[in-house]
Amino acid sequence: MKVPPCTVVILGAEGDLAHRKLMPALYHLTRDGLLPEGFTIVGVARRDQGEDRFRQAMKSAIAESNEAGPVDEEVFARFARRLFYVRGDLNDPASYRALRQRLEAREKEEPKPQGRLVYLSVPPSLYPAAVEHLSREAVAVRVRDPRATPWVRLIVEKPFGRSRETARELNRLVHEHLSEHQVFRIDHYLGKETVQNVLVFRFANSIFEPVWSRQHIDHVQITAAETVGVEHRAGYYEEAGAVRDMFQNHLLQLLTLTAMEPPSSFTADAVRDEKVKVLASIRRLREGGIDDHAVRGQYGPGTIDGRPVPGYRQEQGVAPDSQTPTLAALRLMVDNWRWQGVPFYLRSGKRMPRRVSEIAVQFRCPPHLMFARARVPELAPNLIAMRVQPDEGLSLRFEIKVPGLELALKPVDMAFSYAEAFGGAEHSAYETLLVDCMTGDATLFARRDEVEAAWAVVDPILDAWAAGPPAPFPNYAAGTWGPREAHKLFAGGAGRWREP
Ligand code: BG6
Repeated sequence: MKVPPCTVVILGAEGDLAHRKLMPALYHLTRDGLLPEGFTIVGVARRDQGEDRFRQAMKSAIAESNEAGPVDEEVFARFARRLFYVRGDLNDPASYRALRQRLEAREKEEPKPQGRLVYLSVPPSLYPAAVEHLSREAVAVRVRDPRATPWVRLIVEKPFGRSRETARELNRLVHEHLSEHQVFRIDHYLGKETVQNVLVFRFANSIFEPVWSRQHIDHVQITAAETVGVEHRAGYYEEAGAVRDMFQNHLLQLLTLTAMEPPSSFTADAVRDEKVKVLASIRRLREGGIDDHAVRGQYGPGTIDGRPVPGYRQEQGVAPDSQTPTLAALRLMVDNWRWQGVPFYLRSGKRMPRRVSEIAVQFRCPPHLMFARARVPELAPNLIAMRVQPDEGLSLRFEIKVPGLELALKPVDMAFSYAEAFGGAEHSAYETLLVDCMTGDATLFARRDEVEAAWAVVDPILDAWAAGPPAPFPNYAAGTWGPREAHKLFAGGAGRWREP
């Protein structure tokens, strides 16, 4: 994958995302020699500082992030030579003018950059003004031909809207100024190796796909559990809550990759067409029946790793009577031939006992168990667990005979570990996605219709929760797997929540 000489502009270069993810990712790519001569990074932020101070601040940020490892002086010197700063207020057109002049001056140098990538790493309330000014001041303008150079691309961070309506409005606004092939809506889960591997696992092997359907699968469980609380992001999280923060994007992405039909090629539109079809097939939850399909939780005080932690309502910046859910559990049905009748259980929350993200595909029990005399404490159905993080890998659970004179059965796991096989992931999700964007590959980014379709799935839940009576929060203690009610989602089914 050859990155062309280009300019990356980061709006919001002093923000949390830039510090924790973007700068470390760009530094890491520099270290690995993946950024060519003529590559330039321009940070834009409000702070009144010179270039040297900005570079020092970025050095500290890289040192603090555990993504990039310790800072190497020689690599940082190379990185710093490419790093520039423009002070700007993103509501003020003059700042964009100054930015353009700076870019033009830089772009006159050799070798000529072949494109501009602008990263909107700013609060969503600034998106409309930023897109408009970027276009009017000719920093990021419409390019009609996807193959034209110099290219201009925009990365938009999540949340992309807060409902289908607002996402549509934002799409409309962005499209007033840019073509769809220029817009890269980022979901960092798609940059994770193990998430991309779902497609390889399913479609580069021939033994799994024939059993990947309602004929053999009982249900699918998708979990993204975190041990962290709201951290220092109460301002954002109070407005977002678990469904907007994790489900509309990450969890639904995992669902679509698990459920989609094989695309004809691994190209952006072929893959995204299939994902959109899955989203459109998810049964819409109806007012009145939401509680049978969706459970919300908010953590109270508890213990994580033996350490007492406060409840959500006691966190700094959180309202003492906050109704924001920090956990949600959903049962979704995909109404198509492959998946009719197979529930997809999705669960994600803060302050759960372990940090673990996985997709667990549970198969049906054998139709008849002939081992009538066998000692079977509990027959565990076959299960394929795709571990997204940590301990990235895959496992297949099956029953075996326990050695001995007595006939006894026991479930065991056959496991594949990325770390053992390859020594761990080579690149972080943001590195992968930045390179994809710079090389113009939108396969791992959400298309316009895809984000809107994902909002259409979660909107009824958000609306019902917003309109209904207050929830009995807090309803799970920090360090537990969530409220009891979440188990009710399995009523009438064969499964129960895993504790991976
Ligand atoms: C982000 C959410 O998108 O994903 C955070 O805003 C969450 O609340 C994070 O903590 C989880 O990402 P990861 O890569 O740590 O699983």
